[in-house]
Amino acid sequence: MKILGIETSCDETAASVVEDGHQILSNVVVSQIDIFKSYGGVIPEIAARSHLEAILPVIDKSLTDAELTWHDIDAISVTNAPGLLGSLLIGTLTARTLAILHQKPLYATHHLKSHIYSNWLDLSLEDSKDPNSPRISAPPKFPLLALVISGGHTQIIRMTKHNHFEIIGTTLDDAVGECFDKVAKILGLPYPGGPAISNAALGHITLAAETSNQNSSTPESHDSSLKSYEISPGNRNRFIFPHPNVQKLDFSFSGLKTAVLRTVQKELGFPIDHPSYDLKNHLTPEQIADFAASFEKTAIDILLEKLSKALKDYPDTKSLVFAGGVSANSYLREAASAKFNSKNPVFPLKIYFPAKNLSGDNGAMVASAAYYEITSGVQPTDPYSLNIYPRIEIS
Ligand code: KG4
Ligand code: ZN
Repeated sequence: MKILGIETSCDETAASVVEDGHQILSNVVVSQIDIFKSYGGVIPEIAARSHLEAILPVIDKSLTDAELTWHDIDAISVTNAPGLLGSLLIGTLTARTLAILHQKPLYATHHLKSHIYSNWLDLSLEDSKDPNSPRISAPPKFPLLALVISGGHTQIIRMTKHNHFEIIGTTLDDAVGECFDKVAKILGLPYPGGPAISNAALGHITLAAETSNQNSSTPESHDSSLKSYEISPGNRNRFIFPHPNVQKLDFSFSGLKTAVLRTVQKELGFPIDHPSYDLKNHLTPEQIADFAASFEKTAIDILLEKLSKALKDYPDTKSLVFAGGVSANSYLREAASAKFNSKNPVFPLKIYFPAKNLSGDNGAMVASAAYYEITSGVQPTDPYSLNIYPRIEIS
């Protein structure tokens, strides 16, 4: 079964054709990151307009890349929740129109469900195009725990079977990706903050365009508007940030962001009412690397500690699945693989990460999620009335 998946919930316009829930036949993603870098974050109205311009060419390309026509497509799936209202509207209205026009069954998928199902996709587009290529690993087994970590969510979700989700932990305030983005802003690193912090922690620093660093030596710049530095990796133990004391399996990340802010102010000798937007102008590249490395370690440690607790509460767990933009984080991948693996005497289980290019938003995961809805008996939705839900939990 060939499903066309359409994703426009935030700032990526994406479409993909996936066969039988795992074989990627095409995967087209147009990112608006370059537009939003200069604003330091997503502007919803601009995101919606950009989706409107990109959506039809992106869908056309997904069919061309897959060497298919509309005749070959068995169903359309689209993200209709949660996300930015205007962005969700563009994808959903486009999918509704195409479903009516081409008389295809239409499925609506929750964004977090799709992120989880990115772990069922074959790891490489090239491999999956080769009919003789075996899948790189067997798919996750149930019961499983999924850690969904994105710009808008931080949740632990338990699945006992396909298309069945129970939220067992959630953030009480900021999402972990949001925390990466806010800390990056304090340190003068560009949007999106996750990759920028990860690189800075390793000594590869590129400052956001508006940062005017006064304390640094001559930068090695590739682009005249962006200053970049290559220095030694940051010290992950230089700054110690407290772990939040949150009950059960829930998370909190707003305190960590404030702890970084206060520590930067203290390090620079400023009072706590010194404006956060000015701090970046006084940090040296070495200080930025140390803050990025110490923050990244703390954020990832907090996530992994909660996962250990969840695994103790659910000892029948067979697989551990990571999903969402933050799951691209290399430090997380290394730390999680060292802590949870089939040889670990306490938690002997298999862990899964999506391919790095499928950690962020894409249409392939939307198609995969719909495939497992269909095989679980879910009926198509009405293309004349499908609504969008900017804030709704997975169910
Ligand atoms: O899933 P996603 O692409 O969009 C949402 O559904 O929100 O996640 C975006 C988030 C952003 O906060 C971004 O900073 C974060 O994922 N992110 C990362 C990394 N790559 C993206 N966070 C940490 N390390 C990364 N390598
Ligand atoms: Zn996402």
